[in-house]
Amino acid sequence: MSPAVTGGRVAILAGCRTPFAKAGTAYRDLTAVDLAKACVRELVERTELDPSWVQTVVMGQVIPSVRAPNLAREVVLGTGLPVSVPAHTVNRACASSGEAIAEVASEIMMGHLDVGLAGGAESLSDVPILHSRAMAQTLADASRARTLMDRVRIFARVRPQDFIPQTPAIAEPSTGLTMGQSAEKMAKENGISRQDQDRIALASHRNAAVALDEGRMAPEMCVVRVPPTYETTVYEDNLIRRDTSMEALAKLPPVFDRHYGTVTAGNSSPLTDGAAAVLLMSEKRARAEGYTPLAFIRAWAVAAVDPGGQLLMGPGLAVPMALERAGLELSDMDLVEMHEAFAAQVASNLQAFESEEWARDKLGRSRPVGRVDREKLNVNGGSIAIGHPFGATGARLATTLANELTRRAGRYGILSICAQGGMGFAMVLER
Ligand SMILES: CC(C)(COP(=O)(O)OP(=O)(O)OC[C@H]1O[C@@H](n2cnc3c(N)ncnc32)[C@H](O)[C@@H]1OP(=O)(O)O)[C@@H](O)C(=O)NCCC(=O)NCCS
Repeated sequence: MSPAVTGGRVAILAGCRTPFAKAGTAYRDLTAVDLAKACVRELVERTELDPSWVQTVVMGQVIPSVRAPNLAREVVLGTGLPVSVPAHTVNRACASSGEAIAEVASEIMMGHLDVGLAGGAESLSDVPILHSRAMAQTLADASRARTLMDRVRIFARVRPQDFIPQTPAIAEPSTGLTMGQSAEKMAKENGISRQDQDRIALASHRNAAVALDEGRMAPEMCVVRVPPTYETTVYEDNLIRRDTSMEALAKLPPVFDRHYGTVTAGNSSPLTDGAAAVLLMSEKRARAEGYTPLAFIRAWAVAAVDPGGQLLMGPGLAVPMALERAGLELSDMDLVEMHEAFAAQVASNLQAFESEEWARDKLGRSRPVGRVDREKLNVNGGSIAIGHPFGATGARLATTLANELTRRAGRYGILSICAQGGMGFAMVLER
């Protein structure tokens, strides 16, 4: 160990998330800040953490509000944490709260601090809707105009098309392809059938429904009271479909390539609102304070592929890299939590792990990474069923993985996330 690295192992003591809701439904009138505050407040209360111990808060968000771009600092100021706690917000696309966890863990490992909160939130019900560039320039010019006549002249430039609002695109800026079109491309190039995709989607819903019924979701969930009256209480995810079946999934039309496609609303993750956070502490401090850690962070890795190729293959690189750093094999994992952006992306990455060609050409290895036992994969459901608030998914995966490893008395687990820009994130937890 380098002399600078003095903080030792990083413990995940607990995690908490809001119920996840389809965008435009239960949290229609809330912001990402509201959601993040609800879960952080609950996490602090539930762990009986003295707020004065918290030394940093890092949160992930992909589409920030223009009014509150540093979500993490708003969380500090809005949850009773000391105002002296510094906080920043990171954007590693869908891996943002994975990145937040890695940043806090790095600081703990360096010995800079020993208690931190990491998480993330997203409200796709509250995305910034912008004026067109022409309209924005007109408004800026008008604000600088000296006379009323000048202002009238400037507004006379406005054309009807300038009124068309600009919404954030869930697309890759460098290629222009949406995430869904990219998933279509992967399904076609990797020979992933519609049935394979629907099977993954069905497992996601079935596993989530069983986890809910057996009370396995409760430990990770907080309750959200919805303003202005606070009479409505959200206590459960609203996207899980108990009644779905292969037949129902097979009937859904393809969305991103209407003629020849296989990616549907059923085998894609939905647009979602929600937040999640974890409490991280150095092992030494956790033991000194009398906490029993749920799990420890063993290793993590971030990698990237060319977005112009197959956009969502990042986990295919990040997973073997994290395993190598952990000194472990895929076969050592008791559980695998894989973010399901699309079933086609899950199937493509699982295929890459098993592929000799992928191992040779992309990893420079003679042996494939290995086969993921489907019985160990997303055992409490995945993003297709539960939902995917971009900034929160990493912290949800870490929480679920740590809780489930504890419940099963497992030793190792890995989580992976594909992200915009061709990136992949993976983290190995141990007990
Ligand atoms: C795919 C997508 C366009 C679908 O959006 P949507 O049309 O609002 O989806 P809905 O939930 O309304 O579903 C469409 C229909 O499919 C049905 N459906 C969806 N999932 C189903 C399931 N598992 N079983 C049965 N029916 C299902 C719905 O009931 C709905 O039917 P209706 O039209 O009769 O009401 C949207 O979820 C999306 O863009 N997802 C991708 C998000 C993304 O890119 N994320 C980034 C990942 S990195």
